[in-house]
Amino acid sequence: MADLSVCVNGLNLPNPFLIASGPPSTNANVIAKAFDEGWGAVVTKTCCLRAERIINVAPRYARLRAEGTDEIYGWENIELISDRAFSTWLSEFRWLKERYPDQVVIASIMEECNRDAWIEIVQRVQETGVDALELNLSCPHGLPERKMGSAMGQDPEITRQVCEWVMSVAKVPVWAKLTPNITRIEDPGRAALQAGCSGLSAINTLLCIMGVNLETLRPEPTVEGYSTPGGYSCKAVRPIALRMVAELSRLRRDEFPDRTISGLGGIESGEDAAQFILLGADTIQVCTGVMKHGYALVRRMREALTAFMERHGFETVEQFRGHSLRYLTTHADLVRRQAEARQAGRDGAVLRDTDWRADEVVAQSERLARSVG
Ligand SMILES: Cc1cc2nc3c(=O)[nH]c(=O)nc-3n(C[C@H](O)[C@H](O)[C@H](O)COP(=O)(O)O)c2cc1C
Repeated sequence: MADLSVCVNGLNLPNPFLIASGPPSTNANVIAKAFDEGWGAVVTKTCCLRAERIINVAPRYARLRAEGTDEIYGWENIELISDRAFSTWLSEFRWLKERYPDQVVIASIMEECNRDAWIEIVQRVQETGVDALELNLSCPHGLPERKMGSAMGQDPEITRQVCEWVMSVAKVPVWAKLTPNITRIEDPGRAALQAGCSGLSAINTLLCIMGVNLETLRPEPTVEGYSTPGGYSCKAVRPIALRMVAELSRLRRDEFPDRTISGLGGIESGEDAAQFILLGADTIQVCTGVMKHGYALVRRMREALTAFMERHGFETVEQFRGHSLRYLTTHADLVRRQAEARQAGRDGAVLRDTDWRADEVVAQSERLARSVG
């Protein structure tokens, strides 16, 4: 039987499936439910010292559905971090660690670019007994207006500064959660790891506009007739998340082999999770998938990951973590490999396959053009 347990930064998890920071980890009750259902750990909804300044609006979600079906592919939110009092969070962290001493609670925290505020939040949160911290340097909407969230994570020097403040007092492992709204995610990733963070989480949401309502002519989600760009998540972002996790995994492999990567973005199945692990993730996190399918999703994910491992003869997650990174190369290298294969007469199948696909694409376009015409 495949063993799903993993050890990350000294924390022992029964499986690599984590609830990500967001609505599924918004208070102690739902976090307890996640543990009861068998999630490997929970990253709590982001809290801050002065929650009275966090004011949410409604509606704050908009969904993109596959044409002709109800299936949700893309999800926009303009939800801020938690608006629950910091003192409430502190007592709930304590309660969770008393009730679930063996389960891993990772507290997500955010503050402005202020040394004293970061030091205070780290000290007060870690005193409650939480197992680790995740720094939200990546929320792309609302908070950047106040120089918080992705406004910090998009600047590698600010990322380094904040992580240094945090690491000067942290006694538990710290993950920096990175924004995908940046050209080179390795730059803030390297800054966070150079500052001493134990790991990286990627990705937070992509800044987006879900659409414009063609009756009202207003962008969605619409609040009192107006909108603002929000964070995009769900299946549609998975390819981008995979690419970014692969880039961070390479950085870790080449420069920081003792650190860890938590991959997220559009993960909804054990097969999705396997792909992130194959590209180097130690753990994976799920947010929108839990909002769509409920906490019991983890049972299906565990079964599917176990089946994948047994099919390939992997006994532990460690045995295949990062396996597929070796097959990622440059385009120039692909050209060289194909030229060599052609020279060696090994290319027949590849060429026929490519030709067939090209024909098929042309035929499909012609069919489409005929049906439209
Ligand atoms: C409604 C909603 C609220 C979120 N709130 C937070 C948050 O408070 N802190 C945080 O770090 N990420 C937050 N996220 C981002 C998720 O943790 C995650 O990074 C992102 O949604 C991609 O993963 P997914 O496709 O599994 O949702 C939120 C996402 C959603 C959809």
